[in-house]
Amino acid sequence: MSNVYQATTSAPVNIACIKYWGKRNESLILPTNSSLSVTLSQDNLRSTTTARADPSFTTDRLWLNGKEDIIKPGGRLHTCITEMKRLRAEFEAANPDQPKIASFNVHICSFNNFPTAAGLASSASGFAALVYALSRLYVLPHSPEDLSLIARRGSGSACRSLFGGFVAWDMGSDDATGSDSKARQVAPESHWPEMEALICVVNDAKKGTSSTSGMQRTVVTSALLQHRISEVVPSRMAEIERAIADKRFGDFAEITMRDSNQFHAVALDTYPPIFYMNDVSRAIIAIITEYNRLSEQPKAAYTYDAGPNAVIYALTPNVREIAQLVLYYFPQAEKVFIGGKEVEAALPEGFNEAVAKRWEVGAVKGLIHTRVGDGPRVLSDRETLLNAQGTPK
Ligand code: DP6
Repeated sequence: MSNVYQATTSAPVNIACIKYWGKRNESLILPTNSSLSVTLSQDNLRSTTTARADPSFTTDRLWLNGKEDIIKPGGRLHTCITEMKRLRAEFEAANPDQPKIASFNVHICSFNNFPTAAGLASSASGFAALVYALSRLYVLPHSPEDLSLIARRGSGSACRSLFGGFVAWDMGSDDATGSDSKARQVAPESHWPEMEALICVVNDAKKGTSSTSGMQRTVVTSALLQHRISEVVPSRMAEIERAIADKRFGDFAEITMRDSNQFHAVALDTYPPIFYMNDVSRAIIAIITEYNRLSEQPKAAYTYDAGPNAVIYALTPNVREIAQLVLYYFPQAEKVFIGGKEVEAALPEGFNEAVAKRWEVGAVKGLIHTRVGDGPRVLSDRETLLNAQGTPK
């Protein structure tokens, strides 16, 4: 039997506290500002990918959630695969004892353990898992930082999913090749393990504007974006990094909420305007704002990406209380458990109930409780997604 060259990996979702919104170079995916995110645990949300190289494969092929995707020449998938093959070819040239597999075609099979319909961005974890799987298939010595340069070419936010914990994407200044626009770990997950996230999956009937085209329009039309890029983000990046280093949750929360607000303000300042949040999103903002009024420092931080779902960051001792509050306004069809114990709808002492109306079941169609987590993982060959023929199992 001939050798099987393959690897299976998983990669996490990340949710930004300082948002990436805008490119200064579309093809290299170079951002107009640096950004910072929290990597969420793969125990709850992950993309899993198998990559195999074989001389019998007649072309590169990729399947996503069971459906074959076309690898368009010059497209993002094509760029990532080509770049990884280039690194392997360099590696083979430097290590003549290594098998010559760089020229083989590859089959890649990937799936997300969360439904795309949940409206959670899957491109970040997907491209991170793809690049990481190819790096393991090719046994490359490259660091996660190096690999983040390639994941970035798949989807900007994907570069941050190459690390666990708290991750910055430094915008860099090399506009010719983008060699310094890469991810950097600010702190590992072990630094602040009390950091948890409650994702409110908000019902969304309409298909919104994609991140790629939305931010393109913002760059061309929004004057407010220019102010954000030059005056706001640089100091915010420095402040949130310090807040994370010192584990000052109140400051972390305020910066996160302000930055989500500004991202959505910039979307509104786009012409024609873009709305990602809906009435449910705004009700959750009102509820978290009232909750934070009750304590000296914020105990919860909301943030929203290019859709209506809320991600609420909070520390372990406060998560149950926040989940109770969300349940009070957004009743669930199914029981919700945290730490094995059922969560009952309740309002904290002194909470002004009138800040929002109580919604019907289904307005928030699910709650996902998770925490800060680790970077990409290598899985065993038993978890391969490809059968002996190299097609999805
Ligand atoms: C709002 O990374 O999806 O989630 O680079 O065009 O693929 P492309 O965009 P993408 O944009 C993510 C935007 C965001 C903010 C963030 O994750 O920083």
